[in-house]
Amino acid sequence: FFFQDRRRLFNEIQELRGNIRVFCRVRPPHHSNTPLAVSFPDSEDSSDQSRIQVGGKTFEFDRVFGPQHDQHAVYQAASGIITSVVDGYNVCVFAYGQTGSGKTYTMNGSARNRGVNYRALEDLFGLIQDRSSNFSFEVQVAQLEIYNEQIRDLLQPERGTKLEIKRSLDGASFIPDLEWVTVQDVRDVWNVMERASINRAKGATDTNEHSSRSHLVVSVQLQSRNLHTGAISRGILHLIDLAGSERVSRSNVSGDRLKEAQHINKSLAALGDVFMALLAKSHHIPYRNSKLTYLLQDSLGGDSKNLMFVNTSSEAEDVPETLTSLNFASRVAKIQLGKAYKHTDFGDTQKAARTIKEKEAELASAKQDCTSMQQMMEKLSDSNKTQQFRLDELESRLEEERAKYAEATSRILRLEEQLAQSHQILEDEKRMSHSLVEELREQKRTVFRR
Ligand SMILES: Nc1ncnc2c1ncn2[C@@H]1O[C@H](COP(=O)(O)OP(=O)(O)OP(=O)(O)O)[C@@H](O)[C@H]1O
Ligand SMILES: [Mg+2]
Repeated sequence: FFFQDRRRLFNEIQELRGNIRVFCRVRPPHHSNTPLAVSFPDSEDSSDQSRIQVGGKTFEFDRVFGPQHDQHAVYQAASGIITSVVDGYNVCVFAYGQTGSGKTYTMNGSARNRGVNYRALEDLFGLIQDRSSNFSFEVQVAQLEIYNEQIRDLLQPERGTKLEIKRSLDGASFIPDLEWVTVQDVRDVWNVMERASINRAKGATDTNEHSSRSHLVVSVQLQSRNLHTGAISRGILHLIDLAGSERVSRSNVSGDRLKEAQHINKSLAALGDVFMALLAKSHHIPYRNSKLTYLLQDSLGGDSKNLMFVNTSSEAEDVPETLTSLNFASRVAKIQLGKAYKHTDFGDTQKAARTIKEKEAELASAKQDCTSMQQMMEKLSDSNKTQQFRLDELESRLEEERAKYAEATSRILRLEEQLAQSHQILEDEKRMSHSLVEELREQKRTVFRR
């Protein structure tokens, strides 16, 4: 009962929370006889785990997958979010975690154990097939890599790393030169992915090392046309295998490796900052602080669905990194995004009406910004005044203290002088009484001699 109550409450909170989900996945230990350094308090109901315990700390996520959960189970839980791209949502799936924690395994998988990317695309083409009597779809795929804050198009490696992100008139981020390949079915997608992976490996001396230091972004653009109404809806799905998140300090690196680590840290921190700003419902979301967040701007805001896998190891030696990852992920899990909405084009009038509405909302929000700016200025000037007042007060108190100090000093001097004088008098008196005694003795002697 207790478990079910807690679970029900958790679900209610999820409902209120909006469109970001965080799934934790713990990979099995490399040697099957290594004891696990993490535990799962919900193991009595292993199909619906949501908690994980590490180093005496308990974390709660939308789902927690342990070593016993396979690729199928993980994708099952994620598929609803991912396939909503067919309904016109922007969807972003991340795999976050330290090197070797299972990000690539989760997203890409192996030939025998396909991951999220493969399963998602298979699912998408299945849905497209199911809807083909009412909708026509166009699917395009692009693949890029962000390495040291430089973007490389994996389908056009000859273009190098000079690709830039631009903002379109409607505010969407895009890379003008990026190659989008139109695909008809899942086989086309594999060919594209194969090409990208060959190109990715080409420039690198060590493929694994290189891939763990760059973010890999697989983007799938879906445009659907309702065959009856003509309404067009667009959704974009980003599948992102992030660079390894371990900290610079522990990786003990210098030179190029240090530069890479710093770039990775900076862009993962930027991702965290964007999530935090969304959490704080900040007016300013710092999308521009990294290529990754700038590129994903339209998929991280309030009108999109996000899923973050936090991948962790299960071994004792990795507990510090595991804790860092889980802390990061639980901050992300607290974010409240607005209600997701579909990206649908309506008829012209509806479109115009929507534009007017949007402009009105923009105006209202600009007015709101203006008011809050004014309020902030007032507050600042108030606080300025208060500060000035306090400064004046402190200065006059300092003056008082100084005067007191000077007075005390001169009193000490006076007292010291008096003391010296008293000493002198005492000495004089001593000397006088001494000579008096001497004189008396002398007189006595004279008297006796007589
Ligand atoms: N859930 C899992 N079940 C079985 N094996 C796994 C699982 N997760 C990861 N592995 C294995 O662990 C190893 C490391 O995983 P992976 O390469 O996915 O890590 P990564 O997070 O992508 O690391 P990097 O940041 O270096 O790219 C691989 O050999 C992978 O096959
Ligand atoms: Mg990897």
